[in-house]
Amino acid sequence: MNLPKEQIQGNPLEPPVLIETKRLIIRNISLYELDSFLQYRNEPEVARYQSWEPNLDKAYGYNFINNLVSKKIGDPGNWNQIVWKLKETGQHIGDCALFVTEDAKQAEIGYTLATKFQKQGFATEAVSAIIDFAFNKLNLHRIYASCDCKNYSSFKLLEKLGFRREGHYIENIFFKGAWGDEFFYALLKKEWNYKKHI
Ligand SMILES: CC(C)(COP(=O)(O)OP(=O)(O)OC[C@H]1O[C@@H](n2cnc3c(N)ncnc32)[C@H](O)[C@@H]1OP(=O)(O)O)[C@@H](O)C(=O)NCCC(=O)NCCS
Repeated sequence: MNLPKEQIQGNPLEPPVLIETKRLIIRNISLYELDSFLQYRNEPEVARYQSWEPNLDKAYGYNFINNLVSKKIGDPGNWNQIVWKLKETGQHIGDCALFVTEDAKQAEIGYTLATKFQKQGFATEAVSAIIDFAFNKLNLHRIYASCDCKNYSSFKLLEKLGFRREGHYIENIFFKGAWGDEFFYALLKKEWNYKKHI
């Protein structure tokens, strides 16, 4: 699908910076990230343990992002998509999905990083900054995440950040043609802030 130019050009200015880390600028997604978002989400290795197949098209990407741009990060009952961009080049390399529950006390988190930028600490840098923001700016009580038991890089990241494994479900999900097992993890604000001070 070729998007009409005005759909992209009519997009408001990029959202303000939410968080700045050593190497990254982190902020809400906008339509400026449409191509880069689709590019890494369509990498087979990136999609392997995710809900989508690596054949997302521009129409899907446009609708997905367009539904998110008006949502404020932390709005209860909404998913947000928070992008990570290299400070040095502006390149968009990954994102975090954050769903804040209706009572504004808990959130589910997910993360995706382009393969070219994996194993360099970018996910640790971005996700830890977003967790800190969620606990200490949004004042959440608990953050939780789940992943396929075969997704070693994902649960390793969670454990590095201090998440506790709270559950190990066996064949709880029919996923990409087969029954899969999942780990469930969680982290409390007090655990996060305690870990920061030791
Ligand atoms: C899950 C995912 C984000 C983890 O990415 P990652 O690259 O492994 O994580 P990081 O960016 O934090 O990199 C950590 C690695 O970088 C290395 N590293 C290099 N430089 C580093 C630095 N400056 N700081 C920290 N770590 C550094 C670490 O040693 C570590 O390697 P190790 O795991 O072999 O010990 C990534 O695998 C991914 O996007 N996968 C596909 C999507 C997906 O499945 N998402 C999860 C769905 S549940």
